[in-house]
Amino acid sequence: MVEVTPAEKFSLIISEIAPDKSISHRSAMFSMLANGTSEISNFLRAEDTMNSLEIVKNLGAKIQDDGTIIKISSDGIKESSEILDCGNSGTGMRLFCGLLSSANGHFILTGDEYLRRRPMKRVTTPLKDIGAKLDARKDGDLAPISIRGASLEAFDYESKIASAQVKSAMILAALRADGVCTYTEPELSRDHTERMLKGMGAEIEVDGLKTTIKPMKELLSPLTIRVPADPSSAFFFGVACAITPDSDILLEGITLNPTRIEAFKALERMGADINYEITDNKYEPIGNIHVKYAPLKAITIENNISWLIDELPALSIAMACATGESIVKNAEELRVKESDRISTVVDALRASNIEVHEYKDGYRIIGGELIGATVDSHGDHRIAMSFIIAGLRCGMKVTDLDCINTSFPNFFELIQKITKIKLN
Ligand code: S3P
Repeated sequence: MVEVTPAEKFSLIISEIAPDKSISHRSAMFSMLANGTSEISNFLRAEDTMNSLEIVKNLGAKIQDDGTIIKISSDGIKESSEILDCGNSGTGMRLFCGLLSSANGHFILTGDEYLRRRPMKRVTTPLKDIGAKLDARKDGDLAPISIRGASLEAFDYESKIASAQVKSAMILAALRADGVCTYTEPELSRDHTERMLKGMGAEIEVDGLKTTIKPMKELLSPLTIRVPADPSSAFFFGVACAITPDSDILLEGITLNPTRIEAFKALERMGADINYEITDNKYEPIGNIHVKYAPLKAITIENNISWLIDELPALSIAMACATGESIVKNAEELRVKESDRISTVVDALRASNIEVHEYKDGYRIIGGELIGATVDSHGDHRIAMSFIIAGLRCGMKVTDLDCINTSFPNFFELIQKITKIKLN
């Protein structure tokens, strides 16, 4: 359990936000498609992404890690005698389904008790439709998943959900399919896969919501990448600043990919003073985000949900501190994240004295006075960190904290720059 003390105003520069989780997973996996050694620096050394790295190793890649740069080389995906454990990571499991569907051999993917409850049909069904041999519990929906690599047919797939995980799984399958493939999504989801694979030389064209993928004629060029900091992790500190009067914070080295910073844009619409500065551009724009406190007002969020889906729990803390009624709609996907984030957010805010109305696809939060409570994370890292941030306003006890190591191992180190905490 952690006990958080309310914070005084602060002024900070933080350059140690955890490296981006989505890009770290992809760097490890995509290295297996290259014809040489990929070099990855600032790889996220958290449970989720280290699990992906371990799986890549089990699939035959050679990994040299000097603690700073991870070098990965592979001469093709090899069958493994190990069960491939994705831990808590939906991204790991769903993307590996796409990558392994066409590989030579038989593979088993599993995960922790939370991941084994999350829906996998969203990838197993479209993959099976193009010839992949996948099976799983509950008619293909629940891990463990077994995969027997097969030849895949070209496809034109129109997805009903805006999910980067589904899109990425299908793009990885398309690279080995027997013709040109197209994937269309209802709203643009994060696009790291397209950017990184194109950077490696894959023939991928994006036209609005439609992505066209030509199968790989040969292996791709290796990746050379410094993983930028994760905007979803940085956002906890953005909210910390936005709810602590007279504070400001400069968050450095973050990916400023437009599909990832929508939560900062929402916070800006609520009144926070936010500036962005691009300092680099490799695969995607990277730079600094400067947040300054200003009183917050309520907001309605109903569009581009996938651009801020991971940040909605933290944003709910800003909404609780804002004047007026904030509404989140069209966010049913929250129910199938690491926890059912609609019910975990609603219950925890209610326990903290905030009036909240729950809907099938979101919630309505009446801004008010947060009062310290004891909140259980339900094993969900983003719930744990969001309510620790709430504690900066009102004091808070949060339990079940190991999950924070899945994405942000140095979170406590950084939070102690803002306030005193007691961990026990
Ligand atoms: C991710 C995509 C999102 C996001 C997850 C990471 C990715 O999930 O919630 O944390 O790296 O592709 P969906 O694609 O299921 O929306």
